[in-house]
Amino acid sequence: MKIAFIGFGGVGQALVKIIKERKEKLSKELGLSPVIVAVADMMKGSVYDPDGLDEETLLETVSTHNHLENYPGRASTIKGWDNFQTIRESNADVIIEVTYTDVKTGQPAIDHCRAAFESKKSVVTTNKGPVAIAYKELSELAEKSGAFWGFEGTVMSGTPALRLPFTTLAGNEIKEIKGILNGTTNFMLTEMEKGSSYEEALKTAQEKGYAEADPTSDVEGFDARYKAVILANVVMGASLTADDVPCEGITKLTKDKLQEALDNNRHWRLIAKIKRTEDGIEASVKPELLDHADPLATVGGATNAITYDCDLAGPIMLTGAGAGLVETGYSLLIDLIHSRKRSY
Ligand code: HSE
Repeated sequence: MKIAFIGFGGVGQALVKIIKERKEKLSKELGLSPVIVAVADMMKGSVYDPDGLDEETLLETVSTHNHLENYPGRASTIKGWDNFQTIRESNADVIIEVTYTDVKTGQPAIDHCRAAFESKKSVVTTNKGPVAIAYKELSELAEKSGAFWGFEGTVMSGTPALRLPFTTLAGNEIKEIKGILNGTTNFMLTEMEKGSSYEEALKTAQEKGYAEADPTSDVEGFDARYKAVILANVVMGASLTADDVPCEGITKLTKDKLQEALDNNRHWRLIAKIKRTEDGIEASVKPELLDHADPLATVGGATNAITYDCDLAGPIMLTGAGAGLVETGYSLLIDLIHSRKRSY
């Protein structure tokens, strides 16, 4: 399998490390032998070798020079291609789309996905924008091109929340999905339960690297809302946009309010809910006061959790990381493994 990276930040580099360190295991146990043929990054430049780049040299080049033009090239190595040239003209089978993309517009990731599918190439991405904004268009385009589109990392990073209903839970009708889908706010609420103020909790979340560059998206619930839209459309077959999902963040919650709830054996959690109703699929994001016995109530720290209420299997809960470089890099590996099946 020949792969090309579009964007090469921490997540992409984490995947390269995983591929380098597990080469033998991936090949022996899964028959997967990814060969990195190209890397293109707006800031770091680009490098392409149809015969494959060396993982260690690639990582070293980026960590030493922060620029790919310094990759010690052979005669067949091409440098200076832009993202679209790399997508269209490289011999990659799968494009790893991990650019810095604005989730509100989904760009440039949406255009990268389009270009790849039009070139009959598969895409795996961790960008939420293309799935939350253009799921219908892009999934139809992928299908028409016989390409695979994987985006496991868009919800709960490497915790396989999106694939679970299509694999182990297949055959059930899912009546409701409820989840803690934003690590930053769950971390903040847990800190506030321990006695921190809202401001102190936000500062610690930022220091730990959980929060988005602009934490508004976390604390106002927008990040969880995009994930709710993805779950509604991909898992429940809805056609929702972010505007269809009422959203309230955690900005009105105070340390005193959380402590008062604790005194009554209850916990405030930011809950994303997607529900099958007689009028169709409805979704919302808002703080909810949960009884201590509710399994979502005691999910602490930056951990994410999701409950699928299945008609046959009953409620099934999955908890795990919702962010992190290695975890998100791993989500791309899950997609690569599944990409050979040509369907989600
Ligand atoms: N800022 C997000 C969170 C990262 O806190 O969950 C993953 O989307």
